[in-house]
Amino acid sequence: MKSYEKNSVKFLAGICLLALVSFSVHAGNTYEGYMLYNQTCYLCHGDSGKGDGPLAGKIDISITDLTDDKLVNETSDLKLFRLIQGTIKHGSGNNMPQWGLALAGPQIESIISYVRFLQRSKHSLPGDPRIGEQVYRDNCVACHGRLGKGDGILTTVMKMNAADHTSSMEMNKHPNSQLIEIVTNGTPGKSLMPGWKEKLSSDEIEGVVAYIRLLSTYR
Ligand code: HEC
Ligand code: HEC
Repeated sequence: MKSYEKNSVKFLAGICLLALVSFSVHAGNTYEGYMLYNQTCYLCHGDSGKGDGPLAGKIDISITDLTDDKLVNETSDLKLFRLIQGTIKHGSGNNMPQWGLALAGPQIESIISYVRFLQRSKHSLPGDPRIGEQVYRDNCVACHGRLGKGDGILTTVMKMNAADHTSSMEMNKHPNSQLIEIVTNGTPGKSLMPGWKEKLSSDEIEGVVAYIRLLSTYR
């Protein structure tokens, strides 16, 4: 082999190795992200992500607004991952904890999905998704499926098109009032979506709609 051929072989091998070790951010679980965010991040960044959490008034530093345009549009998932992990530096200093010391990679991915929800969802959570999780498991999984894909066990024996709740784009089209109305009264005609007003309280209905919103993946 001529030396320039050897070099190009080395070059190609290098690229393959780089592709193998290069890291990509997987789709997180938005509900898990919601739980983790509200155990830790909200203290400084606030429920809404705007940087107005309970610690905000007590520390003498300004806390980033996570719904800021720059973080929404110009920061890739990978960069966000590293900023949260603490493996790349923040603009102004070292006031943001290095979460890589406390959280595993998949947990950070889930938090990113929830931060993207705060940035991109057109609708807030109408109730408590922790109440909703239990309601969903007890009543909705049979048709909508454990992950909300519309592929529950009943769909194998009954003809129906149980709605898929995992697309954030689709879910963004429906206001909370509409989803609450559908869960309360069901859908009319021959459609198999039952109404739940006899069985569930309004807290449970609002909670389960909140939970459904967190079945979507935000990227
Ligand atoms: C003790 C307060 C505190 C907590 C808790 C906290 N942060 Fe921060 N965060 C900050 C501060 C302060 C900044 C601004 C950066 C700086 O000044 O160093 C920041 C910045 C950020 C940034 C923007 C980084 C940049 O440079 O643009 C992201 C993203 C972020 N935080 C995510 C999170 C997430 C996710 C959590 C929870 C896992 C979290 N933060 C918890 C204080 C906190
Ligand atoms: C027996 C099966 C079945 C069960 C159980 C069921 N659903 Fe449905 N659901 C459906 C079907 C079928 C549709 C589609 C209705 C249509 O398009 O007319 C639907 C549609 C919906 C929609 C409308 C979403 C959209 O994008 O149009 C929501 C919200 C919903 N279901 C929530 C729930 C919740 C919450 C539960 C549990 C409390 C539940 N469903 C239980 C079958 C079911």
